[in-house]
Amino acid sequence: MKKTLLYLTAAMAAVIVFGACERGSVQIIPCPQEVKAGFGEFDFAGASFIIKGVEDPAASDYIRSFQALVQEKTGKVDGRSRVVFVHDASMAPEEYVLQVRRRKVEVRASALNGFVYAIQSLKQMMPLCIWGGEVPQGQSWKVPAVKIHDYPRFGYRGQHLDCSRHFFSTDEVKKILNLMSVHKMNRFHWHLTDDQGWRVEIRKHPRLTSVGGWRSGTMIGKDWSSDDHVRYGGFYSQEELRDVVAYAASLGITVIPEIDMPGHMQGVLAAYPELGCTGGPYEVWKVWGVSQEVLCAGNEKVYSLMEDVLSELLDIFPSEYIHIGGDECPKVRWESCPKCQAKIRELGLGNDEHFKAEDYLQTYFMNRVEKFLNEHGRKIIGWDEILEGDISQSATIMSWRGTEGGIKAAQSGRDAIMTPNSHMYLDYCQSDTPENEPLCIGGCLPLEKVYSYEPLLPTMTEEECSHILGVQANLWTEYIASNEYLEYMLLPRHTALSEVQWCNADNKDWERFCNSLKHMQQIYEALGFNYRK
Ligand code: ACM
Ligand code: ZN
Repeated sequence: MKKTLLYLTAAMAAVIVFGACERGSVQIIPCPQEVKAGFGEFDFAGASFIIKGVEDPAASDYIRSFQALVQEKTGKVDGRSRVVFVHDASMAPEEYVLQVRRRKVEVRASALNGFVYAIQSLKQMMPLCIWGGEVPQGQSWKVPAVKIHDYPRFGYRGQHLDCSRHFFSTDEVKKILNLMSVHKMNRFHWHLTDDQGWRVEIRKHPRLTSVGGWRSGTMIGKDWSSDDHVRYGGFYSQEELRDVVAYAASLGITVIPEIDMPGHMQGVLAAYPELGCTGGPYEVWKVWGVSQEVLCAGNEKVYSLMEDVLSELLDIFPSEYIHIGGDECPKVRWESCPKCQAKIRELGLGNDEHFKAEDYLQTYFMNRVEKFLNEHGRKIIGWDEILEGDISQSATIMSWRGTEGGIKAAQSGRDAIMTPNSHMYLDYCQSDTPENEPLCIGGCLPLEKVYSYEPLLPTMTEEECSHILGVQANLWTEYIASNEYLEYMLLPRHTALSEVQWCNADNKDWERFCNSLKHMQQIYEALGFNYRK
């Protein structure tokens, strides 16, 4: 008796000392904020499911599909033990409480996302076959008693995917959305256009996809003078885009489309050469890098085309934010373009000690597109280059060239999302021995470095911290031409990202993470993902 008591005390102390996830089968990633071990186990085989007060059909559908999955896997229904889902209006939309007792599991949340995250945590405590594959003979469905109270550190928890440089099917995109859901992420940043291919159907301007969606070849490896002469491309129809948006929404994920402008637009110029400063001809770019051929900011037709594109997009993507790019826009063409220079004179722009007239012309471009989107009830996100000039106060800055852009944005009272290439560029190599890695863009970003990222600096004020909306990893696909390789570059770094986004800094623990990662790798396998071992 005394000995049992001693073990229990030791076990409880371990919970306090080692924190959340370091116990038995509770190896949840991202690690929940608060975990308390209970006594005994709950048997999911033959449990009844009850939903109380959940009125949002998306939430009840999600719960019902979990019920169907459990009942299909266990082969039993409607016994005496209960799994109860309760609407609790006192909770934040992404918060949940999950209590597993011997005879009852109770999940409390106030919205779809809370229920999704509770179920994802539950699934990570269940036998691996809940994720896929055959159920082994005599599989036990017992889950240890526990109480979890969980909520995210950051409201914006994103994963980006470039589908221009290489095109990925909606099936693969949905597979990645599933993975994001496992990791409690809520924003999918979909990079849909670039120099190397335009990927969204725009009904008013079909040449964007019929011409802009296809390149006549692609450079081979890192040889800029080479060309494989293989026609490459593709695009998403509006039906497909809507289907992906709806699928993401069912998982509590918002899709944020990016139309990268005014640079990274050679796909558009190939289709409509009159929109470039020189008039072309242009081709959909076959090499990687930053093209000097950009939209002519002095041509009114450019603004009408962008407004037409955005009008169709707004109808497909209900997101609060639309990403309008703004990165890497060389100004060489603008400097010698009569239309651009006339626009500069018309607007009274000039060089000053900070920036050149052409930088202010880009600001004019971005602010004008922002105004259009604001009038349609949306906000913009732009890459950190848009701070070079006087971008509006309401623009949200995505900090990619390190963290400076995000810090500067927060200091100036603008919102920011941190995606520094130093820690969040998943196209970088996963080790410092690139010769042992598949071809990648360069850089070195091992798992531990992703995990170590801390977006808030001790020198930041509370007000500045409140402008850091969250964190995202970016996956550019110049060198990533297959699903298998895409998944290899994502995993396991995407898993490390999830703890940067979700866990309070004092709840992160590299050793505990690595232990739980072994279990997560089994989940990758059950879900059919390739990953770096
Ligand atoms: C970027 O990586 N050019 C945003
Ligand atoms: Zn021009």
